[in-house]
This record gives sequence, structure tokens and C-alpha cells, in this order.
Amino acid sequence: MKPASGPPSPEPRVLLVGMMGTGKSTVAGLLASALGYGLVDTDGLVEARAGRTVAEIFEQDGEPHFRVAEARAVAELSEMEGPLVVSVGGGAVLAAANRRAMRALGTVVWLRARPATLAERVGAGQGRPLLSTGSEGPSGATAPHDVLARLDGERRALYEEVADLVVDVDDLSARQVAHRVVDALAERSARARGGRGRRPG
Ligand code: S3P
Repeated sequence: MKPASGPPSPEPRVLLVGMMGTGKSTVAGLLASALGYGLVDTDGLVEARAGRTVAEIFEQDGEPHFRVAEARAVAELSEMEGPLVVSVGGGAVLAAANRRAMRALGTVVWLRARPATLAERVGAGQGRPLLSTGSEGPSGATAPHDVLARLDGERRALYEEVADLVVDVDDLSARQVAHRVVDALAERSARARGGRGRRPG
């Protein structure tokens, strides 16, 4: 259940969460066009504000600095107008305040994948600081699959906590995932309309 912390946002908002490599950005673009909504990406907000890429921020200032900027980007979402699809950076769920903000904002969709799928999709992890050589201690030798499996293990319960809908993306193209999300959203709002004021049975 969402916290009853105020009136629900009058504008539809769809937030995509999940690990890197699940296709959030591509799916968000497809969804935004299919629904006619605006498109936002928390990494994009961070980069625009900092004038640097996420990889540069990690490298120059470290992950904690990035997480502060990311939290600011998540907080900014509630000030945006109009219907929106938001692609949320994979680690944003780590902060409880971000999780609360996301749940209060709209419908959260978890794009879920097996670590093997993620590893296949990210390849060598280029442009992804958490997978780049050196991010895993002095040897820097941890394979992307192992890092992804560890992060996935740490975050799974958090994605589950915020998710209103879950789509397993392993065997689906981005287009198929976007279709599933559109269908699931339609079903959910039909159910909400049908359920209002009616008694079961
Ligand atoms: C991160 C995911 C990235 C980006 C940063 C950290 C994470 O975003 O925010 O590299 O902690 O999982 P995507 O999930 O969009 O790749």
C-alpha cells in the first residue's frame, strides 16, 4: 500500500526501476511515445545539473557524491508537470527517501531480470562505473556477471518493496516489454475503476 501522505498526484506517472541492463531507458522511450507522456531519466537530470557524465562523477567525486545528486534528481521529479515516464537509475532504490518519493509519485514498474541476462546485455560494462575495472578492489578483476549478481542480491527486496507491477524481461525485446507495461497499466486502471464503490461478489 502506498503511504497516505497526501492527495495522489493528478498526473499519471510511470517509474521504471530495476538493475542496469534491464533496458529501462529504451523501454521508457518506447512507453513515453506509446502513451504520449513526457520522458525523464534520473541519470540525465544528474548529468545536466553537473555538466558531467555519470561515469565522470563517479571517477572524480566517488559514488557517495553521485548518490546525493541522484537523490536530488529523484526529489525534483515531484515538481515536474504533466504525465511522465521516468527511467530511474538502478541504485536509486538504495535510499529509503528515494523509495518513498517514488512510491508517492506514481506507478512503479520493476523490470526484473536474471543476472545472466544482465551480464549478457551490459557486455564489458562500458560507461557503467560500477562495472568498470577497479571498482571492485585492488585487483579490479571482478567480472561484470559477479558484480551484477551481488548488486541484484542486495537490491531485489528493495525493488520488490517499491514495485506496483513487475515484468520479467529476460526473454523479451524492449518493444515487447513496453507492450506488457502498457497492458498492465491499462488492466490496473480498469481494475481500479471497476473496484471503486463495488462490493466483491
Ligand atoms: C547505477 C545505475 C546506473 C547509474 C549509475 C549507478 C546503479 O543507471 O545510475 O551508473 O547503481 O545501478 P542505469 O540503471 O540507468 O544503468
